[in-house]
Amino acid sequence: MPRARKLWANSNLAALIIWFISALTFWILFQMLLRSSAPPSTGSSISYEERRTRLYDKLSRELDEKGAAFLKYGETSQSLSLSDLFTIKDGAVTPVLKAANPPVRANVLYMSPQYSVPIAEAVKSILSPYFEKAIWFQNSSLYHFSMFHASHHISGVPATEAEIEAEVNAIKAVAEGLCPLRISLDRVVLTSTGVLLGCWQVNSGVDPVVLRDRLRTALPHAPQKQLYDAAILHTTLARLLGQPKLPKENRITGLQFFHDLVNKLNSQLHGIQAQVSELWYVEEYDVLALALNGRMKVHKLNLGCSKA
Ligand SMILES: *[C@@H]1O[C@H](CO)[C@@H](O)[C@H](O)[C@H]1NC(C)=O
Repeated sequence: MPRARKLWANSNLAALIIWFISALTFWILFQMLLRSSAPPSTGSSISYEERRTRLYDKLSRELDEKGAAFLKYGETSQSLSLSDLFTIKDGAVTPVLKAANPPVRANVLYMSPQYSVPIAEAVKSILSPYFEKAIWFQNSSLYHFSMFHASHHISGVPATEAEIEAEVNAIKAVAEGLCPLRISLDRVVLTSTGVLLGCWQVNSGVDPVVLRDRLRTALPHAPQKQLYDAAILHTTLARLLGQPKLPKENRITGLQFFHDLVNKLNSQLHGIQAQVSELWYVEEYDVLALALNGRMKVHKLNLGCSKA
């Protein structure tokens, strides 16, 4: 009898051990499965800063991945062909202005000349020797960060004067509740379409993701699909329109020449700081008026830093 009991106890213990090992194995496998099926960390858990870094990394790779499309007339980020944007008139590059119908209504953060002029001068001094006419420099009085469109050229949302006034007032209320941003230049990037971009990070102040969210709330009729990633903070510095002028022996050097140019720009401009204290609501009567010195009406709104 005691022997039977001992056997029974032993088998009970064995069962317990087997059960425990199975449970442990199951748990470990389950954890491994969980980990492997977790979304590749693009979830909402990454910071806005990290999101921008990844975006800028991706933009930086574009030239190598897609090639220099601007050498054979590329398209801009707004799906406009550069060859449609410019013409040579009396030996000078001249924008081809096209009326926007309905006018584009853009909300942009504005960079004052105090910060934009030194950047524009550096860009000019580095690029001018190579691109005589095949380049368009962004007007340094109009450096801006495109944020949110109440109406854009792909999806037009017509508005009456009264509706525009209501929109301006709504944006004004958004601006008054925000403090100026302190930003620093993360890097200069040349896209495959030839657009030279300054890509920025936020040191303090409202994040572009949050700002775009507030603008969307303030502009309920705005196109659902906007033109840019919600995290991006970029300003166009210049647009390359064609081949650089190089001594014959330096021709056909592939993309290295452009990488060298961008590196030169970065060594001068990386880390440069700026403060942004104006939000502009711009009625653009020409497509890309802010970029091409077209016709526009600007409503300047100060970031007031007052408690809403
Ligand atoms: C640059 O923009 C300013 C402000 O809109 C304007 O007065 C000036 O004429 C522009 N410069 C050029 C070269 O178009």
